[in-house]
Parts: sequence; structure tokens; C-alpha cells
Amino acid sequence: MSQSTQRAEGHALQVDIASEIGEHDLADLCEATNAAIIEGGGFGWLQSQDRAVLARHFRGMLLVPDRALFLARLDGVVVGSAQLVRPPRNNEAQAFAAHINHAYIAPYARGFGLARQLISRVEEHAAAIGIRVLNLDVRETQQGAIALFEGLGYTRWGTHPAYARAEGRTVAGHFYFKLIEPGRGRSTESLMGA
Ligand SMILES: CC(C)(COP(=O)(O)OP(=O)(O)OC[C@H]1O[C@@H](n2cnc3c(N)ncnc32)[C@H](O)[C@@H]1OP(=O)(O)O)[C@@H](O)C(=O)NCCC(=O)NCCS
Repeated sequence: MSQSTQRAEGHALQVDIASEIGEHDLADLCEATNAAIIEGGGFGWLQSQDRAVLARHFRGMLLVPDRALFLARLDGVVVGSAQLVRPPRNNEAQAFAAHINHAYIAPYARGFGLARQLISRVEEHAAAIGIRVLNLDVRETQQGAIALFEGLGYTRWGTHPAYARAEGRTVAGHFYFKLIEPGRGRSTESLMGA
């Protein structure tokens, strides 16, 4: 596991990339995920799930070669996560891009700067593996996430009016991208339009 740690208001904030996940962390991750689902966002699920269902989801995704799971910890306890998804190998034309999915922090761990650290860690990893563009999308109702991503320099390029169904209504969704500089080779900026 590769880690980054910071401190905020006496708390230790840490983000790991998980290559495997132990029972203890898995239990905390499932609890955090259900807390975020119940509060209303951060995952496609609209209702809380059995622990076994969530455990299968996370264990299964660790087996998928083009996905990476990032775990956010507050004082060592897993309280949130994000996934970085690369295109399938046949999609060479878009091999430079990846998608950030399912980024959330449990309600009981918000406001400490963990999401900012989580996304920054995803960006660092993306740059290190040669990704030059990050894409993501978010429901228009996720005001905290919109402020987070816009504050981190993500550009909104479009809005889908029929993006999701939640709480009995159709909700629009905003689509964002951010250019990433790999720190070696030609700059991403210089490759735009080249
Ligand atoms: C959005 C979310 C991830 C933020 O988590 P967090 O750990 O509390 O965020 P941070 O403490 O790192 O905040 C970083 C910045 O995000 C913005 N932000 C976060 N929550 C916010 C809120 N509720 N309202 C407005 N801005 C908010 C602020 O700009 C904040 O910077 P500041 O503290 O300097 O003002 C969390 O609220 C969440 O999980 N929401 C539901 C899931 C979701 O919407 N996920 C995105 C879908 S991909």
C-alpha cells in the first residue's frame, strides 16, 4: 500500500491505494459507504446495502485490472473511498484518460479536508501512471462535491438533464474534466490540439 498522511485539527488524515483489504478495513469501509448512501450520495446505490453486498463489490473491484481503490482514513479508520477507472485495453485512443468514480467521505468524517487529500492522491497516482486527463460526473444536487471539484480546478464542460433518478425525480448531472501534468515528457497543455 502506498500512503500519504497529513494532520488537521489534531486528527491524522491518510489516503492509501489498496491492493488488498483486510476484514477490519472492509468492515469500516462498508460502514462508511452505507453512511454516505443513507445521507444521500457518493455511490450509485440509493438505499443502504447488506454488508455482504458491499464486501463483494469492493473485493470484486480489487480484481479488476483497470481500477484502483483509494481509501481515506481518519485517525487510522477507513471513512471514505474513491475509484480511478482506466479505459479497457482495446480503447487505445483514450488510454490517456481516466475516470474518478464513487468519491465520498462518510458524514461523520467530513469537514477535515479528507476529500481534498483523497482527490489529490488520486491525481498524483494518475499522473504517475501517465494519465493526462481526469473525467468525472456528479449529480447537480451534490453541492459539496461540486464545490470540492471546482475548487480543485475541474472544468465543467456539460450538463446532462436526465442524468439520474433519485428520491422519485429525475436529476441533472454535471460533467467535469481536469488536465493532469505527468511531470515528465511533453506537457499535457502542449499536446492539446497537437
Ligand atoms: C463532497 C465530499 C466528498 C466532501 O468531503 P469532505 O471530506 O467533507 O471535504 P473536505 O473537507 O476535503 O473539503 C474540501 C473542500 O470541498 C468543498 N466542500 C466540501 N463540502 C462542502 C459543502 N458541504 N458545501 C460547500 N463546499 C464544500 C469546500 O470547498 C472545501 O474546502 P474548504 O473547507 O477550504 O472550504 C462529501 O461531502 C461527500 O462525500 N458528499 C457526498 C458524496 C458526493 O457527493 N460525492 C461526489 C460524487 S463523485
